Parts: sequence; C-alpha cells; structure tokens
Amino acid sequence: MKKLFSREEIEKAVKKLAASIERDFEGERIVFVCLLKGSFMFTSDLVRHVKNPSRVDFIRASSYGSGTRSGGKVAVTKGIEENIEGENVIIVEDIIDSGHTLKRVKEILSLSNPKTIKICALLDKKARREVEIEGDYVGFAMTDGFVVGYGIDYAEQYRNLPEIYVMEEEGEA
Ligand code: IMP
Ligand code: MG
Repeated sequence: MKKLFSREEIEKAVKKLAASIERDFEGERIVFVCLLKGSFMFTSDLVRHVKNPSRVDFIRASSYGSGTRSGGKVAVTKGIEENIEGENVIIVEDIIDSGHTLKRVKEILSLSNPKTIKICALLDKKARREVEIEGDYVGFAMTDGFVVGYGIDYAEQYRNLPEIYVMEEEGEA
C-alpha cells in the first residue's frame, strides 16, 4: 500500500470543504447525513469545523453486485431518524465512484422534501461514473485505483488508518 494523502493533506481538504459549506449556508441550519460506513471519520472531522446550527444523522446503503462494483442495485438498510422536511441536507460520502449509491440515496432523501440537498464527498472518481451525479463539495479528484484508510475499507479492513492509501496490485513493487 502506498500513502496517497497524509493526515495534513486530509485536514486541509476537510477544512476547505467546511469553509465552503459555511459560506454557502450562512445563518442557516444544516442536517448532515453520514453515509455509512465509509464516511464516519470524514463526517466527524467535517462537522466539527462547521459552525452552523447542525444535526447529524446516518444512513446505510448496500449495493448488490459483483466485487467492488455496485452495479446499480442499491438498497437502504438503515434509514435516517431525523425529520429533514424543509431542511438543508448535506449527504456526506467517502467516495463517488459509479454514482449509483448516491443517486439512490439522494432520491430517497428527496422524498422527505428537504429545502436543499447537496453532496459532500471526500474523493471523486469522475472517470468511473455510470449515472449522472455530481458532488457539490469535493475534497480530492482522483482517476483510478482502490483506496483504503480514513474510514474507507477493503473487506472491512483498514478503516482505522488515519491516512489514505492506494492499494497496489499484487506483484507490483
Ligand atoms: P458507487 O455506487 O459505485 O458510487 O459506490 C460508491 C461506494 O463504493 C463508496 O461509498 C465506497 O464504499 C465504495 N468504493 C468505491 N471506490 C472505492 C475504493 O477505492 N475503496 C474502497 N471503497 C470504494
Ligand atoms: Mg461505502
């Protein structure tokens, strides 16, 4: 595994995202919806830099598909508990990949009639998109490669690493 983003780089990116959110939602309430499990660490760092009156809730989606691809079939296995009607909702996600997960989660949350609904993603793999979905607040753009750490897993491993690593193919240096 090779280090891709250090603690310092992550902290800088998170603070920048928080500042953009504060600027766009000046004087407004926000409900942060953490998309489990991958964004638990990112969410906890992000929200402590946002001074708006905020609530935090959690949603969990699982995708049915082979291997690391979500393949378009996404089920919500744990819904939100807060009332988000008329609220500014920000979905916090670790990585936007094909876009299927976020598209589905955004559709489901939209049914509760929030005032606004935005996406804040730490990483964006734009080249891998299969459906039209954009991050409103994005920390880092990346091309390809499988990353772990800072909440992000490979088979439930490595979530506890404080930095982000890219996994290299077996046999590579
Ligand atoms: P999507 O529905 O294809 O956009 O899937 C996004 C989800 O796939 C993310 O929330 C991650 O959980 C997972 N994912 C995508 N790329 C990676 C990666 O490089 N490492 C670990 N998980 C990933
Ligand atoms: Mg995930």
